[in-house]
Amino acid sequence: MDSYIALKHTHTLLALLSVLGFGLRGHIALVMNRPLINPVIRLGPHVINVIFIVLGLAMWHISKLPLLGWFGLKMIFVLIYFGSDGMAFAQAKKGRRGPGVVLYVVGLIAFLVAAWLALSKPGL
Ligand code: HEM
Repeated sequence: MDSYIALKHTHTLLALLSVLGFGLRGHIALVMNRPLINPVIRLGPHVINVIFIVLGLAMWHISKLPLLGWFGLKMIFVLIYFGSDGMAFAQAKKGRRGPGVVLYVVGLIAFLVAAWLALSKPGL
C-alpha cells in the first residue's frame, strides 16, 4: 500500500479514537459528574492526540495542501476541537458543569465539521 494512504488510514483511525476518548471523558466528568481518576482514560487520549497530530503534520508536509481552502478551514475547527477539549475539562474540575457541557458540545460539533471537511474536501 502507498505509504501516504497508510498514513491517511492511520490518521483517520486515530481521529476516531480521539473523539471516542473525548466522548468517554466527557461522559464521566460532565454527565456522571465524577473525577477522571483512571490514568488510561485521563492520559490515553492525549497520547493518541499527539500521534494523530504528528501524522497529520507529516501528511501536510508531503501533500503541501494550501491553507487557503478547505484544509485551512479544517485547521480552524481542529483548533476549536482541541481548545474546547482542554477548556471543558478545566471547567469540570472547577465544578462548573454548565459551561463545561457547552464547551464539550462545541468540541464535538467542531470535530464533526473537521471530519466532514476532510472527507468531502469542498472547493472553497
Ligand atoms: C479534529 C481533528 C481531525 C479530524 C477529524 C481529521 C480527519 C481527517 C480525515 C477523516 C482524513 C481522511 C480524508 C480522506 O480520506 O480523504 C484526514 C486527512 C488529513 N488530515 Fe486530518 N483530521 C484532524 C486533524 C488533523 C490535523 C491536526 C492535521 C495536521 C495538520 C491534519 C492533517 C490532515 C492531512 C494533511 C490529511 C490528508 C488530506 C488529503 O491528502 O486528502 N488533520 N483528516
